[in-house]
Amino acid sequence: MALEKRVLTGITTSGVPHLGNLAGAILPAIEASRHQFTSSFLFLADYHSLIKSQDPAMTHNSSFEIAASWLACGLDPNKVTFYRQSDIPEIMELAWILSCVTAKGLMNRAHAYKAATAINKEKEVPDLDKGVLMGLFNYPILMAADILAFNADQVPVGGDQKQHLEMARDIAARFNYLYGEVFKLPEAVINSETGVLPGIDGQKMSKSYNNTIPIFLNKESLLKMIKKIKTNSLEPGIPKDSNNCTIFKLYKAFASEGQIQDLEVRYQKGIGWGEAKDILYSELESKIEPIRERYELIRHDKRHLEHILIEGAVKAREVSSKIISDVREAVGIKGFC
Ligand code: TRP
Repeated sequence: MALEKRVLTGITTSGVPHLGNLAGAILPAIEASRHQFTSSFLFLADYHSLIKSQDPAMTHNSSFEIAASWLACGLDPNKVTFYRQSDIPEIMELAWILSCVTAKGLMNRAHAYKAATAINKEKEVPDLDKGVLMGLFNYPILMAADILAFNADQVPVGGDQKQHLEMARDIAARFNYLYGEVFKLPEAVINSETGVLPGIDGQKMSKSYNNTIPIFLNKESLLKMIKKIKTNSLEPGIPKDSNNCTIFKLYKAFASEGQIQDLEVRYQKGIGWGEAKDILYSELESKIEPIRERYELIRHDKRHLEHILIEGAVKAREVSSKIISDVREAVGIKGFC
């Protein structure tokens, strides 16, 4: 039991999941969760999503879409504790307690907050905090609570989250210094950037660049999207470089070794871009089709999904309720006899 590493990560429930998420986060996380010496906690960070969305329907739908996507992609709820943040009251409770040991100055240094004030500065807005919500400011504390409520050993995240993990460690260390060793210091496991996929314009695939290929397009829209991928203007028959080619990079993320080598040879022989796109389309469609079918089944049986999440929350709370009771005890919040 003690040998088992606890690996925890959260997914903010905003936006539509795309191929970059699939190759860079979803499939690797599912693969890692099959590792027998880890116990994995994976949750939908729905309270985090409120910082960006104040549209209830959108908040609700995104949460559903993301939960359904992970299951459709093969997440096994028997192997992973899969839950919604909002079903774990201990996280909210801990967030408050942690905010009482966290210096405001530490939060002033958070990238997301600094970026928001920098925009005001650039626009010469006199109040640099104009439009900044407390949710955005407190975000790193909520994220620390997500992690520390489970005393996670490792937290796989993208490089953009590195600072949040450092803050979670700082907050945990401060708490331990004041109240005794309650928390483990979580270790960030930064996902390698080599797996980052390009979007249809060749830049990193990202919601903010508006260049994503969503996972759940129907066949026709998927093909249309692939046809939009930017290429150079080399004619068929002219040898092409597979390095730095968006089509090739996308293909490589999903095809087998043998298939990749075959396409490489065809590039050298001067494949036409139209044909290369058809090959990419067939490969993606073959991978997405079963996922799309499972997604539809989940969409038609929302009660099943709800049941999975409720069960996940019960399992998760077996851990978090124990930790929060240690925390309360440590800070002196407890019954009188
Ligand atoms: N902030 C993370 C992101 O945007 C999501 C997240 C919320 C998270 N809470 C977490 C990740 C706790 C790891 C651990 O990607």
